Amino acid sequence: MRKILVTGGLGFIGSHTVVELQNEGFEVVIIDDLSNTSIKVLDSITEITGKKPDFHQIDLRIKNDVKTFFDNNKIDGVIHFAAFKAVGESMHKPLDYYENNLSVLVYLLQEMRNRKLNNFIFSSSCTVYGQVDELPITEKAPVKTAESVYGNTKQIGEEILKDASKAHNINSIALRYFNPIGAHESVKIGELPLGVPQNLIPFITQTAAGIRAELSVFGDDYDTNDGTAIRDYIHVVDLAKAHIAALNRLLNKKNKESFEYFNVGTGKGSSVLEIINAFERVNNLKLNYKIVGRREGDITAAFADTTIANKELNWKTEKSLDDALESAWRWQLEQD
Ligand code: WQD
Repeated sequence: MRKILVTGGLGFIGSHTVVELQNEGFEVVIIDDLSNTSIKVLDSITEITGKKPDFHQIDLRIKNDVKTFFDNNKIDGVIHFAAFKAVGESMHKPLDYYENNLSVLVYLLQEMRNRKLNNFIFSSSCTVYGQVDELPITEKAPVKTAESVYGNTKQIGEEILKDASKAHNINSIALRYFNPIGAHESVKIGELPLGVPQNLIPFITQTAAGIRAELSVFGDDYDTNDGTAIRDYIHVVDLAKAHIAALNRLLNKKNKESFEYFNVGTGKGSSVLEIINAFERVNNLKLNYKIVGRREGDITAAFADTTIANKELNWKTEKSLDDALESAWRWQLEQD
């Protein structure tokens, strides 16, 4: 049975990907430092699949601990989620972000090189495009100067991966996520923001649950139909399945280059007000919100052209926006 290392495997996207890996018959070993999640997620994964993944609490910034892990574990592939991901926070803690999001990537790739390991999937982001000139966004869109340290770590991460893959024959794929939302249908796993949520959907569900007084809509003066910003909201289970598709592409040696990258979204854009209306309709409730000024660094609109990912990964989204918003609410209701 092929053994896959999932770093950050107890996080939001990581945990959903571990479930899909186990469903596909892979043996999974998780490394997580628990800095942005809870060990309870391990039990939740086990309840969903009936198989407990091997788990190691390791701080990947400690280079020697990374080496020791690879000394003791024969790995057939790596899916690397572990990273800091708060756009706003990244502007105040750049060195923490460059250390955690880039030094760790280098340590992992050094082990892959030293042991002639292969198959590396990298968690990237549509953030690398900044505000594009042409929508929908294809993989040919130019990568623009990052508007945040977080976005810069994803751009530099892709460059590191490209150079390492070429020089050391480590086949790799970067998946450029759009906006992951929702929860597994069992609602045993989902998005677990610690502290005040930065992202739209957890803030909406916490407002609906009365944890937050009201949602602030960051700007209604954008050049869009209703003035609010547009994003491509993809169900986290569809996103998890894209990782399995990418891993199988590498394991079956179907990749055309040593380093490839794909846009992983639904191909459809939704404005903030459209999301609010859909959330209210699907869950039969009224949301308390107000329009405020724009958030610094936000772009007007981003949604994916999924043609290449659909074709090359033989993958497409199966869940709807309604599914995602319904599962996000049911997940929120499960929280104590
Ligand atoms: C979505 C829309 C906000 C909160 C970022 C990163 C991306 C990925 C996901 C990590 C925007 C609006 C939000 C709120 C609001 N990060 N909004 N009120 O900024 O598109 O993407 O998070 O994986 O790489 O760039 O996501 O959910 O923060 O915002 O009006 O309280 O909702 O202005 O238009 P974003 P988001």
